[in-house]
Amino acid sequence: MSVLDQFRLDGRRALVTGGSRGLGLEMARGLCEAGAEVIIVGRDEAHLAEAVKRLEAGGGRAVALQADLQNGEEAERMCAAALKKFDKIDVVVNNVGGRRINFPTEDMPLDEWRKIVELNLTQAFVCTKLLGAPMLERRWGRVINVASISGFVAGKPMRGRSYETSKAALAMFTKAVAADWAQHGVTVNAIAPGTFLTDANRRWFKERPELQTEIEATVPMGRLGEPQEIAGLAVYLASEASSYMTGSVVVVDGGRLLW
Ligand SMILES: NC(=O)c1ccc[n+]([C@@H]2O[C@H](COP(=O)([O-])OP(=O)(O)OC[C@H]3O[C@@H](n4cnc5c(N)ncnc54)[C@H](OP(=O)(O)O)[C@@H]3O)[C@@H](O)[C@H]2O)c1
Repeated sequence: MSVLDQFRLDGRRALVTGGSRGLGLEMARGLCEAGAEVIIVGRDEAHLAEAVKRLEAGGGRAVALQADLQNGEEAERMCAAALKKFDKIDVVVNNVGGRRINFPTEDMPLDEWRKIVELNLTQAFVCTKLLGAPMLERRWGRVINVASISGFVAGKPMRGRSYETSKAALAMFTKAVAADWAQHGVTVNAIAPGTFLTDANRRWFKERPELQTEIEATVPMGRLGEPQEIAGLAVYLASEASSYMTGSVVVVDGGRLLW
């Protein structure tokens, strides 16, 4: 097989949580272009329909699955529905996550802490468990967890340390499960993005342009990431090209962690 053929995903089916916008949509686009059928999961039907239209317009095969992955129980329901509807899922990209709160630790209500841990860690555990189990039976599969450089360093302009904590735990979950599943044909890796110019971040930086300048100054490349700059890595981790790689947490941050 030629090296470029190793990146092809023809005949594979991938499920991308949070695949209707942001980094998830760009990863879904990459997987589609490589030949996979992609199931995108999100809460909002209109976002999903728009994303499916965009993926199909690019020649891809995409299906929407509406679900809220705010917590482990919701994730169990989504996985049950996906396994009922699709005969096999070869690749899962656990991309849903986020910060959404800005409480200093001394003021953080317990239920707000739990919400962020559920959103960034627990639902990803559930999707890995339930969608990974049939991969183990078939002896081929790929789990790709979307962590963050916030799992390695505390964010300066924002609080809400439940985010950093759950992303660090997601990175360690990735490594530990990768070890368990290494002899069963299923690889488990993670992507740790730095700050990307997703639509949500663009809106935020429009309100607070000084923050964008402040963050850019911490990046050796001097700029933030464009969402499409994540797609190639997702295709690599989903494909045969990464066959000897498991338990890696790959940082994509313009060099942010170097300083
Ligand atoms: N953007 C960055 O700079 C950055 C940096 C480091 C790490 N990350 C990580 O990368 C991942 C993606 O981030 P992003 O910035 O691309 O996010 P985003 O722009 O907020 O997109 C989130 C996607 O997830 C869906 N979603 C959100 N909450 C959901 C829920 N409870 N259940 C199901 N779907 C949900 C959204 O669709 P609906 O709203 O329709 O549900 C959308 O498709 C996250 O895990 C984030 O922590 C991002």
